[in-house]
Amino acid sequence: MAKITKAELIKLLNKDLGLEYTAMVQYTQHQGVLKGAMYQSMQKELAIHATEELQHAIILAAQIDYLGGVPTVDMPPAKISRDNVTMLKQDLAGENDAIARYIARIRQAEDLNLYHLAQQLRNILAIEQEHAMDLEQALGK
Ligand SMILES: [Fe+2]
Ligand SMILES: [Fe+2]
Repeated sequence: MAKITKAELIKLLNKDLGLEYTAMVQYTQHQGVLKGAMYQSMQKELAIHATEELQHAIILAAQIDYLGGVPTVDMPPAKISRDNVTMLKQDLAGENDAIARYIARIRQAEDLNLYHLAQQLRNILAIEQEHAMDLEQALGK
């Protein structure tokens, strides 16, 4: 497979950045809407996820700038629902998508010998995996 170019990688990282904004907004909204005593600990967990997604966005913005790109301020719309389980499923789908994207992105960064970026992406990937595990547990998976 042909190596990707730095310009292509910047474009992909900007997509990741937009989706980090989306995740932050979605978790912020969902923790506000989640209802019921059974979901109290999950509500706190989602609030923590929101702040961690913001941290990821901050890291990606700095890396994109470092690579010579302009960090995006655009983001895809967040998914919402009035139903607890639906919200948690929406969040889990976002995490599984993020995990797949970051696994690909780490390989692409290493193909370009950007080991510092690859390390930052590994750190983000580890947190996304924790997020997915929290949600799977809450969903009884
Ligand atoms: Fe994230
Ligand atoms: Fe996440």
